[in-house]
Amino acid sequence: MRIIRAKDYADMSRKAANIIRAQVTMKPDSVLGLATGGSPEGIYKELVAAYNNGDVDFSEITSINLDEYKGMPRENEQSYWYFMHDHFFNHVNVRPQKINVPDGTNLNSEEECARYDQLIEAKGGIDLQLLGIGFDGHIGFNEPADTFTLGTHCVDLEESTIEANKRYFEKKEDVPRQAYTMGIKAIMQAKKVVMVVSGSGKADIVRQAFFGPVTPQVPASILQMHPDFTLIGDEEAFSKI
Ligand code: F6R
Repeated sequence: MRIIRAKDYADMSRKAANIIRAQVTMKPDSVLGLATGGSPEGIYKELVAAYNNGDVDFSEITSINLDEYKGMPRENEQSYWYFMHDHFFNHVNVRPQKINVPDGTNLNSEEECARYDQLIEAKGGIDLQLLGIGFDGHIGFNEPADTFTLGTHCVDLEESTIEANKRYFEKKEDVPRQAYTMGIKAIMQAKKVVMVVSGSGKADIVRQAFFGPVTPQVPASILQMHPDFTLIGDEEAFSKI
C-alpha cells in the first residue's frame, strides 16, 4: 500500500488525475474502472482540463464503471450513467461505444450481473481502478457483510449509504434501495487501484480500513492485500492515522 498525503481536496484531485493521465499516456487503450460520487468529481475536472490543453487523449480507452442504482434509467439525473456523462464523458473524446455502466433498467439481476462480469473478462480486466470509500467502508457498493462477494451482484444498500447519498435527491425516500455493483474479484484483479479520500468525516473509516484487520465487515480493508494500491488522502481524511 502506497500512501500519498495531499494538502486538501484540490491537491488530492490533482495528484490522482496525474496518475490517471500517466496511465493513459503510457497505455492509450487502458481499461479504466471509474467511480462516481463527491470524491472523484475534482479528478474529472482536472482530466477535462488536461484534455482541453491537449495533454491527454481518451480516444482509445475503455471505461467500466463500478456501479449503478437498480431500476434507474440512464436519462435520470441521479443515475451514475448521467453523472459520468455530466462530469466527464461529455467533455472528452472517449468513444461512446467504449463506455460501460451496469444497466439499472435490466431488472433481471442474474442476467445483468452475468453480462457485466463477462464484459469485464472480455476486456481483459481493469488496468486502473479508481475508488472512493463509503462511511461504512464500502467500495463500489460492496457493503459490509459476512463474506466478500466476488462477482457483480445486486445489493441492498445500507442505511448509512442511503443517508450519505440522499444529498443528490430531493428527499431520502427517493434514494433507490438497491444497486448493481462490481464485485471484489474485478477490483482486486485490477492491475492498479487508486483510492481518493477527503474530509474529516472519512478519518475513522480510513483508520479502520487500512490500519485494522482485513475483514468483509469493512470491505475496503481487502485493498491492504492488493499488490499495487495507492491511497491518496487530504490532511483531514488522514488526521487519525
Ligand atoms: C460510487 C461508489 C461509492 C463511492 C462512495 C464514496 O461509484 O462506488 O463506493 O465511492 O460511496 O462516495 P463519496 O465520494 O460521494 O463520498
